Amino acid sequence: MDVTIFGSGYVGLVTGVCLAEVGNRVLCIDVDPAKIALLNSGGVPIYEPGLDELIKQNREAGRLTFSTDAEEGVRHGLFQFIAVGTPPDEDGSADLQYVLAVARSIGEHMDAYRILVNKSTVPVGTADKVAAAVRDAQAARGAAVEFDVVSNPEFLKEGAAIEDFMRPDRIIVGTDNPRTGELLRALYAPFNRSHDRVMLMDVRSAELTKYAANAMLATKISFMNELSNIAEAVGADIEKVRVGIGSDPRIGYQFIYPGCGYGGSCFPKDVRALERTARSLGYDPQLLHAVEAVNFRQKDLLFKKIHAHFNGDLQGRTIAVWGLSFKPNTDDMREASSRVLMESLWEAGAKVQAFDPVSMPETQRIYGERADLALVEDAVSALEGADALAVLTEWAQFRSPDFRKIKDTLKAGVIFDGRNILDGHLATATGLTYISIGRLPMTAQ
Ligand code: UDX
Repeated sequence: MDVTIFGSGYVGLVTGVCLAEVGNRVLCIDVDPAKIALLNSGGVPIYEPGLDELIKQNREAGRLTFSTDAEEGVRHGLFQFIAVGTPPDEDGSADLQYVLAVARSIGEHMDAYRILVNKSTVPVGTADKVAAAVRDAQAARGAAVEFDVVSNPEFLKEGAAIEDFMRPDRIIVGTDNPRTGELLRALYAPFNRSHDRVMLMDVRSAELTKYAANAMLATKISFMNELSNIAEAVGADIEKVRVGIGSDPRIGYQFIYPGCGYGGSCFPKDVRALERTARSLGYDPQLLHAVEAVNFRQKDLLFKKIHAHFNGDLQGRTIAVWGLSFKPNTDDMREASSRVLMESLWEAGAKVQAFDPVSMPETQRIYGERADLALVEDAVSALEGADALAVLTEWAQFRSPDFRKIKDTLKAGVIFDGRNILDGHLATATGLTYISIGRLPMTAQ
C-alpha cells in the first residue's frame, strides 16, 4: 500500500520505517530541508536503537523515500499519517498549529479519497478540527473530495520504539466510518498476527485513550515518589515497600520505581494537556494536578539532598553527574531531571562534570559552551576532581561501579543515587556515604 507520513521526527520515522519494512511504499515528508537532506544522504536525525539499520535497508529496497514536497506527499498515499509535533502552549495545552497546517496542505492538494491518520498526541476533539481544516482548504479552491480522519495514537517507548511498533500490545483505531476501520486493519495486518490487537472505537475515545494511558503511568510514578518521601519521613525503605505492593497482581511491578521524577516528551506534556482540557470544560482534575505537582517537586529533590549534605555551601564545588537523558537508551533530554539538577547546581555556584553514553551532544546543543559544565568521555573521568557523584539516569553501565575507585577519587566521598540503582550497602562498606530516594541511611553489611 502507499503511505505518506507527515513529520519525520521520532514517531514519524519509526512509523514510516516499520510500515516500509513490511512491504508498503512509504514517503516521509518534512518541512525541514536540512532534516530531509540528512535522511536522503543516509543520516538519521535521532538516536533510537535499530532505527538507522532499518532506514538503510528500506531506502536501499526503494520502499522508503524522503521529501519536503507536501504536494507529492498528498498525491502518494491513500493513508496520510500526521506525525508532527504538538509542543505545549504557554498554558500547557497542546499547540495544534503544525497538525492543522498538514491538514490544510492535504486539503489544498488532494484530488482523490484520502485517509488522514492522526498519530500525533492531540486533545480530544482534534479530529474534528482536522476535518474542518481540510474542508476549508478544499472550499478555498472549490473542491469537495471525500476523506476520513482517523485517530490512531502511538504507544511507543523511546529506546524500544521499533519493537513496540512491530509487536504492539494494542492498535487503537478511532473512526466513525467502519469501512475506514477495515482499511486500517488491513494496513496493520502484518503487526496483528497471533491474536487480534486492533481495537476499533469512536474517534473521541481513541483520542482520550492515549492521554489516559500516559496519565495512568505518570500517576503510578508520582504515587510511588510521594510514598518514597513518606517512607523517608517514617523511617521505612521504599524499595521493600515497592516489592511488597508489586507482588499484588492488581498493582503489578511495572512503573512503581521511585526516583528523581519522570521526564520525556510524553508524560509531562500529556498530563498537563489533559489537565488543561478538563479545566477548559469546567472540570477540576485534582488528581492530574497532583501528579504533575509531585513530579515537579521530585525533580528538585536530588538538589535539595545535595544542598543539605553540604550545609548549603555549594560554591566552587564540583558534582559528577552520571546520566543526562530522561531515561536510558535515548539521547532525549526533554524535561530530563538532570536539567533541573544541573541548573540548580549552577545557580548555587557549583560546577558539573557529566558523562552520558549518548546524550552529551544533545546536552552541548542545549547548554552550549559554559565554564561550569564539563562533558567528559567516560564515567570514571567524571569523578576526577569532583566532590560528589549524582546518578540521574538508570543506564545499565552505571549499575555496578567500582566503589573503591569512586571512594578514592571523590573528595567528599558521597553518592546521591537518584534512581536507586546502586548497591548502597556495598558503597557504604567501601566508606562512601550513600544517599538515595525513600530509604533509610545505609549501613555496611
Ligand atoms: C512513555 C510511555 O511509556 C509510552 O507508552 C508513550 O507512548 C510515551 O510515553 P517514554 O516517554 O519513552 O514512553 O518513557 P518511559 O519508559 O515510559 O519513561 C518515562 C519516565 O518515567 C522516565 O523519565 C523514567 O525514568 C520514569 N520512570 C518510569 C520512573 O521514574 N519510574 C518508573 O517506575 C518508570
